[in-house]
This record gives sequence, structure tokens and C-alpha cells, in this order.
Amino acid sequence: MKGTAREDRKREKDARQGLLISPIENGTVIDHITAGEALNVLRIIGITGTTQESISVATNVESGKIGYKDIVKIKNRELRKDEVDKIALIAPKASINIIRDYKVWEKKGVEIPSEVLGIVRCPNPGCISNTNEPIQSCFLVQAKGMRCVYCDWLISKDITNNII
Ligand SMILES: Nc1ncnc2c1ncn2[C@@H]1O[C@H](COP(=O)(O)OP(=O)(O)OP(=O)(O)O)[C@@H](O)[C@H]1O
Ligand SMILES: [Mg+2]
Ligand SMILES: [Zn+2]
Repeated sequence: MKGTAREDRKREKDARQGLLISPIENGTVIDHITAGEALNVLRIIGITGTTQESISVATNVESGKIGYKDIVKIKNRELRKDEVDKIALIAPKASINIIRDYKVWEKKGVEIPSEVLGIVRCPNPGCISNTNEPIQSCFLVQAKGMRCVYCDWLISKDITNNII
């Protein structure tokens, strides 16, 4: 079957990007990561460089959809929901592609939950969620940022630095 010109261009582009990142048989591709956030994505899913996973990272790759993007490919690993929720906070346009047998088996977007439980530290040192009380942090996602339900603190930037 003859592909359209657009499909041809995409194949050509994929082939060139393939030189940058080799295909994986099984694992996860986190695509459309906000440019510059790939290393933060790795950090929040616990990949430090001393772990055993086989990872490829591409940063500031040209993307038709969002200008520039980062991509992370992880061999033989799928992500838990709490990990995907953390990624949503720093890369709201990310897509999670599960690769099986070299093909995209499943593709899903990420979604910022309306209530963020236990994954962001409240910057207020006096907040009850920062004491020895057995209380998980809890933020409500609002237009202006994320608000702590315990002390009303609003985080409007640098969410990455507060992710646990
Ligand atoms: N076997 C594989 N190994 C590594 N990366 C892969 C593999 N298969 C697909 N990918 C990557 O996963 C992502 C999604 O692949 P897909 O073929 O769905 O691309 P797409 O059509 O551009 O998707 P989208 O519309 O989400 O941009 C791309 O970044 C692609 O390079
Ligand atoms: Mg694409
Ligand atoms: Zn608080």
C-alpha cells in the first residue's frame, strides 16, 4: 500500500530519530515531555543512574505537536499510576506508550488529578503534613497552582522541586 506524503515524511523522520534512540522490544516510551524536563521525569520515577534499568533519553527534539520535546525510553519497565500522576505534574502533555514486541501496544495521556495526595511536599515548614503526624500531604489543583488543604499554602511555580 502506498503511503501519503505525510506518512512518508514521518517514516523518514522516525528513521532519523532512530539513529538517536534505538528501538526497544518491551518497555515504556514517555513521549511529548515538556522540553527540558526529561531528567526530572527520571528522578521522580526513581532512576538515579545507579539503578539497573536500560534507559535512553533525548532532549530538545523537534516535535510537530509541541515545538520541542524530550523523550524517555525505558527497557523492560512499565509505570505505576502514582508515577504517571507525578509525570503529569511536570509534563502535562506527556504520552505514555507501552511497547510490546517492538510495537506500541497501548498509548495513554497523563492527567493531573484534582487532588494530589502524598506526592508533593508542602513548602511551609510549619504545615502539619511536615510534622511527625501520620498525615499525607494533600493539595487541591486550582487554576493558580496547587493549594495545601492543611495550611492553604499555594504552590504556583517550581512544582518539580517539591515532588517527593
Ligand atoms: N519499539 C520501539 N522502541 C522505541 N521507541 C518506540 C518504539 N515504537 C514506538 N516508539 C516511540 O514511541 C512513540 C510513539 O510511537 P508512535 O508510533 O505511536 O508514534 P506517533 O504516531 O508519532 O504517536 P503520537 O501521535 O503519540 O506522536 C514515538 O516517540 C516512537 O518513536
Ligand atoms: Mg509523534
Ligand atoms: Zn501545607
